[in-house]
Amino acid sequence: MVRSSGLLGFEHGIVQGPLGPDISGPELVAAVANAGAIGLLRAPDSDSPDVVRKLIRQTRILTEKPFGIGVILHFPHKENIRVILEERVAIMQVYYGDYPRELVDEAHKSGVKVIHQVGSLEDAEKAAAAGVDAIIVQGVEAGGHVIGKESLMTLLPKVADLIRGHDIPIIAAGGIVDARGYVAALALGAQGVCLGTRFVATKESNAHPFYKQKLVEASNTEYTDIFGRARWPGAAQRVLVTNFFNIWKHLPTDVNEDQQPTIGHTKIYEKDQEVKRFSGIVPNATTVGDLESMVMYAGQGVGLIKEIPPAAEVVRSLVEGAQHIIECKFN
Ligand SMILES: Cc1cc2nc3c(=O)[nH]c(=O)nc-3n(C[C@H](O)[C@H](O)[C@H](O)COP(=O)(O)O)c2cc1C
Repeated sequence: MVRSSGLLGFEHGIVQGPLGPDISGPELVAAVANAGAIGLLRAPDSDSPDVVRKLIRQTRILTEKPFGIGVILHFPHKENIRVILEERVAIMQVYYGDYPRELVDEAHKSGVKVIHQVGSLEDAEKAAAAGVDAIIVQGVEAGGHVIGKESLMTLLPKVADLIRGHDIPIIAAGGIVDARGYVAALALGAQGVCLGTRFVATKESNAHPFYKQKLVEASNTEYTDIFGRARWPGAAQRVLVTNFFNIWKHLPTDVNEDQQPTIGHTKIYEKDQEVKRFSGIVPNATTVGDLESMVMYAGQGVGLIKEIPPAAEVVRSLVEGAQHIIECKFN
């Protein structure tokens, strides 16, 4: 029997990508961890050490299994990382910035493994040189913020060739929703897969039910930069094509969310926040207002999502489905 092999000491080579802001909370991460995969919380976009500690401790109440947390390096993060190391979380995922060797070494001294998500060959090379424990290769198919411009189909084998001999596992991200995508990524040189959109549409995710339902109904996405320009300039994202998006997709480049009307309210990590038009905040379970006009991140695999299962079911069907495909098609 072919078995899917685990990663970094975890039972399965499946990663639930960190889903910001405040979509992959303790419930989702614990459900993924309990299913034997790598669940990632998402640290806030400001230095908020108390919030980070609370997220970690709440997750530990729900699972005894190891899990991780994602940090966006573009935003203030030093205090958040201090707490992540103090709490000795199993995995720290970093994205959108450099993470040099001395910082990776410091994490290792606390027993924390580092995974860097990259979107280019150059960044994969830097991450490998810094001594990270795994690299997530993000293709342009991915939902949420997208750091590179290349498809996974071509970038993944290039990164695999580049870091051959380094003994650093590669994890594929972008457009993967089911076991077919998982096996395809393995064939292209990955040892694991990272899914974002698929996990947004699960029972335990903190996404608003309206957003989850849109992921079931919709099948088109677009690569754009119209959302969150003031908060995170120059960061492109992949979003669901909605009526709102179709009206505004050619937004002049000098317009951003700052001077826009308020279209709703939300709580991010229990803190009240206004949602402005063109803000980069996706609707979570607490959001009220004009949800249809809010950004909804999604990867190109979205048309393959037909239901909202428990997260453990997603992990189980990836593992069993991949074993089935390998045994029946390739043996
Ligand atoms: C709603 C949403 C939020 C995301 N937030 C983050 C984040 O905070 N940090 C990060 O590294 N990646 C984030 N991502 C990207 C994922 O890490 C991953 O690259 C992507 O989801 C893979 O593509 P897929 O959505 O097609 O599975 C997000 C993705 C989505 C869909």
